[in-house]
Amino acid sequence: MAASSEDIVQEVKSRVDITEVVSEYVPLRPAGRRQVGLCPFHSEKTPSFGVSPDKQSWYCFGCGEGGDVIKFIEKIENLPFREALERLARRAGIALPEWGRGPNASEKDRLRELHEWATGFYEQALARADAPRDYLARRGMADEVRARFRLGYAPDSWDALRNFLRSKGANDDEMLKAGLLLRKDGDTRGGYDRFRDRLLFPIADAEGRVIAFGGRILGEGQPKYLNSPETPLFSKSRVLYGLHRALAPMKARKEALVMEGYMDVLAAHEFGFDHAVAPLGTALTEGHLQLLRRTCERVYLVFDADSAGIRAALRSLALFEKIELEARVVVLPAGEDPDSLLRKGGAAPFAQALADAQPILDYRMNAIVAQHDIRTDEGYTKACREIVPLLSQVEASRWVHKLAQLRSDGDATRVVFHEEDLLRHIRGLRGAPAPKPERSSAPRQEGQKPAPEAPKVSVAVRKLYKAEELLLKACLDDRATAARILPEDPGDLFVREETRALAALARKSLSGADWNPAAWAVENDPLQSLLGRLAADPTPVPDAPALDGLVELLRLHREQPRMKPLTEGRTPSADEWAEIKEFYRRKKPASARDDEESRLAS
Ligand code: UTP
Ligand code: MN
Repeated sequence: MAASSEDIVQEVKSRVDITEVVSEYVPLRPAGRRQVGLCPFHSEKTPSFGVSPDKQSWYCFGCGEGGDVIKFIEKIENLPFREALERLARRAGIALPEWGRGPNASEKDRLRELHEWATGFYEQALARADAPRDYLARRGMADEVRARFRLGYAPDSWDALRNFLRSKGANDDEMLKAGLLLRKDGDTRGGYDRFRDRLLFPIADAEGRVIAFGGRILGEGQPKYLNSPETPLFSKSRVLYGLHRALAPMKARKEALVMEGYMDVLAAHEFGFDHAVAPLGTALTEGHLQLLRRTCERVYLVFDADSAGIRAALRSLALFEKIELEARVVVLPAGEDPDSLLRKGGAAPFAQALADAQPILDYRMNAIVAQHDIRTDEGYTKACREIVPLLSQVEASRWVHKLAQLRSDGDATRVVFHEEDLLRHIRGLRGAPAPKPERSSAPRQEGQKPAPEAPKVSVAVRKLYKAEELLLKACLDDRATAARILPEDPGDLFVREETRALAALARKSLSGADWNPAAWAVENDPLQSLLGRLAADPTPVPDAPALDGLVELLRLHREQPRMKPLTEGRTPSADEWAEIKEFYRRKKPASARDDEESRLAS
């Protein structure tokens, strides 16, 4: 048995051309006996990835990954060995024996089989039902597109599909698992059809196998669309509607159009924009972008001017950067989506909208600028304050990603980098403002109020100043307190130049015989006004434990490089305020912070 498994693997490998397989994911060019290209497993600008047809293997000098063609498919499609092998075997026209099939593999096969039957059933039902075909005709959809995308109709029945699938030998548990049936709470057996009286859009994987459905109500009503639930076959964060049809055109054009809806994708394909896909009513995830990156260099995000999707996509700026996928934003006239625009005006206005697309960063900056009156200093400052974090994010994220990849090589002795920490650190080094959470730097058309940032921070920093002055006042009041509290180098404790200088004088005076703070500063010395202020401050001097608390507080802040402007004794600029504010934000529990994944998926 083992020998024959070996044989099968060898046979599959010998029957597929590794160069051909790899070049479907990675553009390759010949270099000597090898074919080279940019590694799909790490980001790079110069090719360190190569395929050797002689050895039937691939290797990347950049990240050290390598192997045979099966390993390549395992990695790039994120499949277990058996499924990668199956995929290549199908391609080579080789039937695989049953060995090595995990229970999951056969379960997935079974669920796909159910979906295939269901698709056929729904197609038939559409052919027989007038209402849904009239609906499609009213919307102007060509029969050819309807057939190409295998549109169907779920009859207005609680059990039509269930009975059909039962007749094929399927049981209700399987149908339930496939998401095709629903079961009432408390029921232990049986179930009823999930999709009833809806137009059905089969959702396929990249190979065109149906793995889920989207169902649209005919006409008005709620919910407008009902989608399959997440199943072992279907995870909406990794699936794009229309991908199997768009894949070859995407590869040829090196571009994709990302739209919002099923009908948009179908209209686009009908009008010759056959590289259109859509996520399934969710924001774009990293998984989606990676799918696109495999074949495309550029994506056009095609949105209705007032859509929620546009805002979600704009928040993925850093993600596009990281994946090195160029993104352009196409804004359609208000109230139009690709479907309505194409059906009304044909291909030309839509093509024009594509030609007018703006790079996503430009689009975001323009959107920010449009929110402010930049002819005024105030408006200009505000716009800059929102734009700068955007730029630093774009520039740094690529490097950060590379650095963060260092940890993926499995060498436990290496430092583990976390991208968020690195980004923060890099900004610290550059003295640039830390990014606000993406949410708040998105164009404000979301109806967000401008954040009242400076006042909130200045309260915190004023407290800091106050703490310094109180401590100093306590020292001046009482020599013993000064001896106890003042560190060797007052710069270790006090952040502002004046307080530090005064503390240094106090420290020096500790070695002398008398304690007469009034004599420490001469006329017109800036310290004199501080001394005067401290003397006049009516705040009672705190007791010893409270003073220790203040020392603690100052120490904490002293360690923060972002307190630099304060230590330099100047008023922080807008950007520095933002940075200080970020410091306070970070002091909140981690759970209060943004989690990129959940934000993108929501
Ligand atoms: P739209 O409301 O823009 O619908 O939702 P549409 O695609 O233009 O459809 P028509 O033209 O009104 O028929 C865009 C996408 O959001 C998801 C679907 O994927 C839809 O295609 N969606 C929308 C849902 O999942 N559920 C809904 O209730 C609505
Ligand atoms: Mn629409």
